[in-house]
Amino acid sequence: MQPKGKKIPVAVLGATGMVGQKFIELLQEHPWFEIVALAASERSEGQRYGQAVQWRMATPLLPSIAEMKLQSCTPHIAGDIAFSALDSSVAGEIESTFAKGGFIVISNSRNHRMHSDVPLLIPEVNPEHLELVHAQKYGSGMIITNPNCVVCGLVMALHPLAQRWGIDTVQVTTMQAVSGAGYPGVASFDIIDNVIPYIASEEEKVESEPLKILGSFQKTYIEPYQMVISAQCNRVPVMDGHMGCVSVKLKEKASPADIIDAWTTFQGLPQTLKLPSAPSFPLLYMDGLNHPQPKLHRLSEKGMSVSIGRLRPCPVLDWKFTLLSHNTIRGAAGCAILNAELITIMKPS
Ligand SMILES: NC(=O)c1ccc[n+]([C@@H]2O[C@H](COP(=O)([O-])OP(=O)(O)OC[C@H]3O[C@@H](n4cnc5c(N)ncnc54)[C@H](OP(=O)(O)O)[C@@H]3O)[C@@H](O)[C@H]2O)c1
Repeated sequence: MQPKGKKIPVAVLGATGMVGQKFIELLQEHPWFEIVALAASERSEGQRYGQAVQWRMATPLLPSIAEMKLQSCTPHIAGDIAFSALDSSVAGEIESTFAKGGFIVISNSRNHRMHSDVPLLIPEVNPEHLELVHAQKYGSGMIITNPNCVVCGLVMALHPLAQRWGIDTVQVTTMQAVSGAGYPGVASFDIIDNVIPYIASEEEKVESEPLKILGSFQKTYIEPYQMVISAQCNRVPVMDGHMGCVSVKLKEKASPADIIDAWTTFQGLPQTLKLPSAPSFPLLYMDGLNHPQPKLHRLSEKGMSVSIGRLRPCPVLDWKFTLLSHNTIRGAAGCAILNAELITIMKPS
């Protein structure tokens, strides 16, 4: 399925940062969307993008994008959709201004995620939450968010378990890549040969966002999913790819074969609609005893699949396993682009 006519014009806000660069890498050749504006802070405004950015992506920057002038983050810029990769210190106000200006704002920042009228969307998990935008007061504009980078992979792995057996308790310890801290992020002096057992506000997000995403849509609000999550988050010296060591207590008894079946057969609306950024298999189960690993598996299905391994009994809760997802693709720009593809097809009327 694809929209008829010309490509949809899109702007990238926070275009110079880690997530902004990933947006540009993924959008440069997108079949439905065309980048028509790039914006960042006053520090970068007026410069050519290629001159202002410290390009850190593996794909070369297209000369046509490198030549674009960076603009200020005000809604006079061109575009129908604004992908926001803005620093959270400024994202809240700028995103509201863009929505009031008629843009469909697709945000990676935390600012609007937990607002009652804002969908916190993973297209494979809770596409029905998109209807929340009817409660927003932005006229033709709207704000849609995707979750925190580590939450996205975690919730995708939990969702089929919640559907089949229900979840009572989750305990997760994360090992999160340095690109999750933006650019230049954590100083090399602090992260090489080290693990930092603290990421500001991260544990609070991991313990709250999944309850909204897995919650049930009640026309004007989301009834949060009833479970308890305990999270411990660590920064580790890996470039890309967040891992989680997860233990779960289910509400009903399950066998390991059934759990693996629930993961490997899982398909969502993006797969049915064959959206351009949808992975064929959102969840991959790996049999290797020492899998998944960031270096080997973070780019599975172009970074859009979550890799899971090491399912085994947990003597404290019921089951434990390890998961991996690419933080700037599945956990940020890739998920946001998939959200935009879903909205293009299923625009709330
Ligand atoms: N990194 C990840 O894995 C990840 C994953 C999920 C969500 N997120 C969220 O996504 C957002 C971006 O993260 P990031 O890692 O890409 O951060 P980053 O590398 O620090 O980039 C921040 C961007 O915000 C812009 N900015 C800063 N102050 C501004 C202002 N006053 N006005 C306009 N633009 C301003 C910067 O522009 P200049 O270059 O001009 O300063 C830059 O483009 C954050 O909210 C973050 O929490 C990140």
